[in-house]
Amino acid sequence: MKINKLGSPEKPLIIAHRGFSEIAPENSMAAFESAANAKVDMIECDVRLSKDNKFVILHDSKLDRTTNGKGNLRTKTLNEIKTLNNGEWFSNKFRNEKLVTLEKLLKWLPKSIILNIELKPDVLSSSEESAEIKLVELLNKFEMSERCIVTSFNHKKIKTIKELNSKLTTGIIFNPIKNFRNSPSQLCNRFNADIFICNKHQLQSEVVEDAHKNKYLIYVYGVKSERDVNHAWQFKVDGIIANDPLFVKQALQKINILSSI
Ligand code: G3P
Ligand code: CA
Repeated sequence: MKINKLGSPEKPLIIAHRGFSEIAPENSMAAFESAANAKVDMIECDVRLSKDNKFVILHDSKLDRTTNGKGNLRTKTLNEIKTLNNGEWFSNKFRNEKLVTLEKLLKWLPKSIILNIELKPDVLSSSEESAEIKLVELLNKFEMSERCIVTSFNHKKIKTIKELNSKLTTGIIFNPIKNFRNSPSQLCNRFNADIFICNKHQLQSEVVEDAHKNKYLIYVYGVKSERDVNHAWQFKVDGIIANDPLFVKQALQKINILSSI
């Protein structure tokens, strides 16, 4: 793992959650392009499979909330969803946004940005080849394994992905209901992951210390306010995942300036 590229407490990575989703519809090209314009270190996106096993960027299992389509993505072919509107729910300005395939995102990704592919926990392939195999094959085919990290709430999927390609950096996302008895190092060790990801409410000094002592990185999500950024900085996280990455950048610059006086 290229640990220096994946953040440190001195310089936490700024990670755009579902793209720059504060100013553009989540998981849309507009949100990804805005994140690139804000010069983020990493872009996070949510990945699912269509009925014909194409990776599509969508958070919910259903199309209803963020597109003008209805029903489960996994019951539709790519052809059936390719003309859906993927942005009008956010603002009329984004009425021309379409759903994005992972292939398109990989082809577009600027060289300076790492892609955080969150494989949604319930993603199932409709063919014999599992979603994990398909994802690793796609990343291999596009020679993107060293420019992407794969994360999930489904830790078994993460373990499988690492078994399929040991060069891929992986992260497990903490589930407070299923994992409450486990420390970051126990989970990362069990599922062979490199990064522990939790939300701002789960961030405690013991959590960060346990991760770092055992050479795992720690990212925090749900960061919204200046207070959240200050907390993340004080707790020495390696990456900050936020809908508004520019705000995080500005808040961090402020802290750095203040601390260097
Ligand atoms: O990376 C963590 C975060 O993306 C998980 O939550 O619901 O936004 O996918 P969610
Ligand atoms: Ca996500």
